[in-house]
Amino acid sequence: MPDIILGIESSCDDTSAAVIRDGYLLSNVIASQQVHRDFGGVVPELASRAHEQNIVPVVSQALDKAGVKVEDLSAIAFTRGPGLMGSLLVGTSFAKTLSIAAGIPIVMVNHLQGHILANFVKEYGKEQRQPSFPYLCLLVSGGNSQIVKVSGPLEYEILGQTIDDAVGEAFDKCSKMMGLGYPGGPVIDRLAARGNPDRFSFAKPHIPGLDYSFSGVKTSLLYFVRDQLALDPDFMEKNKEDICASFQKTLIDILMDKLIKAARQTGIREVTIGGGVSANSGLRDRITLEGRKRGWNTYLPEFRYTTDNAAMIAIAGYFHYLAGERTPLDVAPVSRMADF
Ligand code: KG4
Repeated sequence: MPDIILGIESSCDDTSAAVIRDGYLLSNVIASQQVHRDFGGVVPELASRAHEQNIVPVVSQALDKAGVKVEDLSAIAFTRGPGLMGSLLVGTSFAKTLSIAAGIPIVMVNHLQGHILANFVKEYGKEQRQPSFPYLCLLVSGGNSQIVKVSGPLEYEILGQTIDDAVGEAFDKCSKMMGLGYPGGPVIDRLAARGNPDRFSFAKPHIPGLDYSFSGVKTSLLYFVRDQLALDPDFMEKNKEDICASFQKTLIDILMDKLIKAARQTGIREVTIGGGVSANSGLRDRITLEGRKRGWNTYLPEFRYTTDNAAMIAIAGYFHYLAGERTPLDVAPVSRMADF
C-alpha cells in the first residue's frame, strides 16, 4: 500500500492543497489571494474569508489532479502554525472535519519545517539533488530569519535567528517607505537587477554569535532617503535602481556573513535556503557563488516552493507520518510556534 498524504496550507494569504504518494508529488494547487494588493499588506480578516471560500475547491482540485479519492488517503497533513490565526483556523478545521468524515488521521506540521524540507519533494521523471544530513538551512521569510541545523527530517537545531525584524520584513517595510509597493521583496529584487550595488552603503549590525538583526539597516535606509529627498525631491525616482541594489546587497551581506560563520563553526558543507526571500535572485546567485568558493554543496528550492505551498507541508507531514506521529482532534492552531 502506498502512503498517500494530502497536504493543506493556509497560514497566510495562499490557500493550497497538494497530494504526494510515497514522497512523489501528484498535485499542488495554490489559490493566491489578490484582495490584499490595495492595502499594502495582508489583511487578516480578508485572508480568512478568502481561505473559507477557496479551501473546498482547492482540495477538490488537488485530489482530482492527483487522481486520488479521499478514501485512498493515508493521512491529512496541515499547517498548525506559525501564521495568522484566522487563516490557520480554516485549514486546521477543514483537516479535522475531513478526518472525522472519512476516518483518516491528521498530522500537524510546523510551516517553517515545510520550507526547510521543500527540497525533498520528489517529482516523477525529474532528476533531483537532495541535501544529505546534517545540512544548514538559511530560512528567510516575512516572519523569520534563522540558520537551522537539520540533522534528520525531524531533527532541528536553531543556531541563530533574528533578534528583531525578519529580512522579508526589511524588504517589505523599506519598499513601502520608498513608495515601491507590496510585497517589497520582488519589487526590490527586480529594480536591484538594474542598479549598482556598490553605489550607496547602509549600516550593518554587530550582533554576537549567529543571530541576526535587521532593524538598524532599515532605519539607516530611512534616514538616508529622508536626507537625500530634502536635498532633491526627485532623488528617489532618479536613483531607485541603485538604492535597491545597494540595500539588497547589504541585506545579503548580513545574511551571508552569519551563514559562512555557521558553516565554519559546524564544519557542515551542505547548505540550503528556504522561505519567501529564498526567491531573491541576488541571494540565490550569492549563495551559489560562496558555495563554489568554499566547497559547499548548495541546494536552491524551485521558485514555486519558495512561496507558500502545500507540497512542502505534505512532504513534512509524510516524514511525521512515517515516524508514527498522529495528531489528536482537539489540536488548535497556534500563531507562534517555537518548536519544530
Ligand atoms: O515565506 P513567505 O512567502 O511568507 C511569510 O513570511 O509569511 O515570505 C514572504 C516574504 C515577503 O517578505 C516577501 O517580500 C519576500 O518573502 N519575498 C522576497 C522575494 N519574493 C518574496 N524577498 C526578496 N526577493 C524576492 N524575490
